[in-house]
Amino acid sequence: MTTFKYTTLNNIARDGIERLGENFIKTKEVEEAQGILVRSAKMHNMEVSDQLLAVARAGAGVNNIPVAKLAEKGIVVFNTPGANSNAVKELVIAVLILASRNIIDGINWVQDNVDNPDIAADVEKEKKKFAGKEIRGKKLGIIGLGAIGAKVSKAAVALGMNVYGFDPFIDEARALNINRDMHYITDINAIHKNCDFITIHVPAMESTKDYIDAEAIGQMKKGVVILNMARDVLIDEDAVLKALDEGKVRYYVSDFPNPTVAGHKNCITIPHLGASTEEAEKNCAVMACDELKEYLVNGNILNSVNFPNVDAGKCLYETRVLILHKNIPGMIKKLSHIIGDEGINVAEMTNRSKNGYAVTVLDLDSKITEENKKTLASVEGVFKIRIIK
Ligand code: MLT
Repeated sequence: MTTFKYTTLNNIARDGIERLGENFIKTKEVEEAQGILVRSAKMHNMEVSDQLLAVARAGAGVNNIPVAKLAEKGIVVFNTPGANSNAVKELVIAVLILASRNIIDGINWVQDNVDNPDIAADVEKEKKKFAGKEIRGKKLGIIGLGAIGAKVSKAAVALGMNVYGFDPFIDEARALNINRDMHYITDINAIHKNCDFITIHVPAMESTKDYIDAEAIGQMKKGVVILNMARDVLIDEDAVLKALDEGKVRYYVSDFPNPTVAGHKNCITIPHLGASTEEAEKNCAVMACDELKEYLVNGNILNSVNFPNVDAGKCLYETRVLILHKNIPGMIKKLSHIIGDEGINVAEMTNRSKNGYAVTVLDLDSKITEENKKTLASVEGVFKIRIIK
């Protein structure tokens, strides 16, 4: 059986690595790896070798990976949607309560009084300073109803909150399916204007930069709490700081400390702990390793962020050719003519496309030559050809 070389750019939980099996050999040399497993390591300035076939991100966000550049080289990028969503949901609930109950100020008071012999009596006098509010009955706005937003909505409803969900990529039927007890909102301004807490769960992309900006904050209620367990670039943090200083925003809770927000009195910053649980790390590693293995061994794609999903099963014929190409008219005709002209019979063909990218899997009754492979690769719009078997 074919062996594959892979490398890891971050620590990947053993439960995942073990699933790769003995045909996957770990290498320290990135240039010779056919697969890369990564968590948060930044890949934007990395040289990409011709050997590389796939990158699997053990986590949801892919802003550390040059997804479009890799697509143009025929390198499939995977992520693990939902695998850490429970961990992030639990942290969102924890920070909702932290920001509501003045728990941090209270803990700090105790720390400042460790040498105070009258601490037990003083607590009873001082605690009124730290009285908070309950989250039950408050309005929570959720921007983004993917795996994390959906889980947050259910947990918040269970805690008695009135939940308002917004997501431009889903319709009402889907929203109802996510949570019947959530108010589905189609105008994001309604979230800004009405909610006591607003939490954002959208991917970081060019189009979502500053998704919450000064104008959005201007519409918000005085005393609003903004929660950001997604990525710092989603929020115009200078605008948030101004609103914190003016008392418009009560707390900004972020899982992404940076020089702008770390240390500000009303910013609660956490060191990117959203997915840092044993369970989430294991789930992400297992999913990422399964995706990588299935693609390298069989050519099937599940949960790619730059190519469509394709499932042609195991190859039951003489050979399987996988072609990663642009989604342009006439491509299938050109590819099948090349195969047909060589007198090779196509036993099964699967073609899938997503946005500008497509994958064609050809299961053939006879082997193709290196020359055939070169001819296929020379078709304009073809990024990569793989002979799987
Ligand atoms: C994610 O993108 O999955 C989370 O932010 C956690 C992580 O970066 O690993």
